[in-house]
Amino acid sequence: MNERSLSIGDQFPEMTVQTTHGTKTLPDDYEGRWLILFSHPGDFTPVCTTEFVAFQQLYPEFQKRGTELMGLSIDQVQAHMKWTEWIEQNLGVPITFPIIADPLGTVANKLGMVHKARQTSTVRGVYFIDDKGMIRAIFFYPAEVGRGLKEILRTLYALQTSDHYHLALPADWPNNNIIGDRAIVPPAANEQQKAERLKQAETGEVDCFDWWFCYKNLRKE
Ligand code: BEZ
Repeated sequence: MNERSLSIGDQFPEMTVQTTHGTKTLPDDYEGRWLILFSHPGDFTPVCTTEFVAFQQLYPEFQKRGTELMGLSIDQVQAHMKWTEWIEQNLGVPITFPIIADPLGTVANKLGMVHKARQTSTVRGVYFIDDKGMIRAIFFYPAEVGRGLKEILRTLYALQTSDHYHLALPADWPNNNIIGDRAIVPPAANEQQKAERLKQAETGEVDCFDWWFCYKNLRKE
């Protein structure tokens, strides 16, 4: 059972974890960097193996965005080490990010990663933790379905872009069907902002379908 439910906007709870790269203190050891912390149901399982290879192959893309990866499952550290050794020997991919060993499920339960459908292992959870230790997004996938790594990377990049420009990003950004790679100006929340948006639309600072649906080109920033 979950001990508590964490949500977007919460500070990631302070904890010390044992990993394949030694002891880590979360979130402090990652201050100034983003962290994608993801759980998998178990070592030596096929879907998880495909995910680990996919995470590793995209690791340089995460690192380019100041982001580290960390895995977690309810397994011993030696099992993680044997499994990653198998992955390297058989699939030619060395796993270079740390994996939390959580044999008693203490960390997994704290993070709400053990769900009703499968009470002795974690579902496929993904926490996006920003450079100040705040939880910015949480995904959960079932054990039967491997994660879409490109969506995880896209969400990370969109969060960082949204923070930088103080703008929101549309469905499937940067390939949205209506406004392409442009970003959405937060909807006017009062009459004064509505008048402001209409003026910005007149001067070409933003494009609008209406006063509550305005967007702009990030390249103009
Ligand atoms: C897998 O990773 O292959 C897997 C793990 C748990 C349940 C089903 C599949």
